[in-house]
Amino acid sequence: MGNNPIFEDKRKLSPHYIPKKLTGRKEEMRKLVRCFKPVLKGGVDQKVIVIGPTGSGKTSLGIVFGRELESYGEGICEGVEWVRTNCRRWRTSWQVLGDLFKSSNVGSEPRGLGEEEILERIAQGVGGDRTRYVFMVDDLDTLINRDDAEFLYTLSRIGEESGDMSNLSLVLSLEDKEALEDLDEATRSTLLHNYLRLGEYDQDQIYEILRRRESIALKQDAVEDDVLDLLSEEASSDGDAGIAISTLREAGEICVREGEDKIVPEHAWRAIRRSNSTPRREKLAGLSDHELFVLLALARFLEGSGGIKPLMTQLHGSYVALCENREKKPRKYACFYHYLRELENRNLVEKFPSRTRTKELGLVDSSPERVRKAVENRLDDR
Ligand SMILES: Nc1ncnc2c1ncn2[C@@H]1O[C@H](COP(=O)(O)OP(=O)(O)O)[C@@H](O)[C@H]1O
Ligand SMILES: [Mg+2]
Repeated sequence: MGNNPIFEDKRKLSPHYIPKKLTGRKEEMRKLVRCFKPVLKGGVDQKVIVIGPTGSGKTSLGIVFGRELESYGEGICEGVEWVRTNCRRWRTSWQVLGDLFKSSNVGSEPRGLGEEEILERIAQGVGGDRTRYVFMVDDLDTLINRDDAEFLYTLSRIGEESGDMSNLSLVLSLEDKEALEDLDEATRSTLLHNYLRLGEYDQDQIYEILRRRESIALKQDAVEDDVLDLLSEEASSDGDAGIAISTLREAGEICVREGEDKIVPEHAWRAIRRSNSTPRREKLAGLSDHELFVLLALARFLEGSGGIKPLMTQLHGSYVALCENREKKPRKYACFYHYLRELENRNLVEKFPSRTRTKELGLVDSSPERVRKAVENRLDDR
């Protein structure tokens, strides 16, 4: 693909790429700066919650702000260390805490330590020098939804019990405030003392984000103007910048495959249709290997069955065969049942009534082929 006329640097359209500067989040950035000024001066910690739907830029804002804080901090205090973890990647609060511990300069391997011990060691570590530590716990609600509400108490206590922790600040990101509803009033108000709401992007904002990204990722004149209008209009229904960007990338790929030299609305329409029938990346993140195997078995079954949906026992058979193929030991039926429940909870799999008493299984709103590819990609990532 070296000589393609479309992509200058395709990585800049990848979901992992975060630009140096954000588009249209100046006010939010300023608010964060205001919150963290006293932290840099020393003696106080800060907890900030960032709330916004998927694709509203929570992760990007955190990362860009973290980079700025680290470089700005050098002149003011003895450095800032910004560490981020993403709860989607982990299944328990111990893993989240362990990941922060391992990634930070004050930490090491968490294996063998309990949560309290990890917290103690963090306290010892951050209390020992004059660096300011900021931990970002991204997508915290995915953890709370998995019944790990205790973790919020743990986080809200950081900094309060021990003066040593006053070097440690937190930035927490959540999709909405509901995840905090079950907390007692005191904990909730501690956490909600500073919060920043990121709204869904509107069409103009998405257009602007696409325009800037296109200018660094695509060759000059590789895209017709109408395409960005079309993509931003389409993406404005859920205000998700990430989907807008990945759809642009997909449109570019379609264009390259067709051997054409300019992305036109037809490519964009096809990319939009594909995007609508693909399970969102974040829905698959956080699934265990065996949950992914069950989903993959279902997608393959549906692809090969001409529309006939499997019953639970049939799907179990396909799952077992798939595990054996991959030289993995299949889990017991009870576990399999549990995996299916998780897939249903995530709105990936759905049960349909059948003529017999047991239900048939199908995919929610997605094509089997797209699901298969998405799951295979996900398994390859590991
Ligand atoms: N203000 C922005 N300026 C430039 N790119 C953005 C902006 N907001 C989001 N993006 C892009 O959109 C994608 C999704 O944003 P992300 O920060 O992951 O959203 P969230 O964490 O809220 O789900 C990111 O990969 C990023 O490249
Ligand atoms: Mg995010």
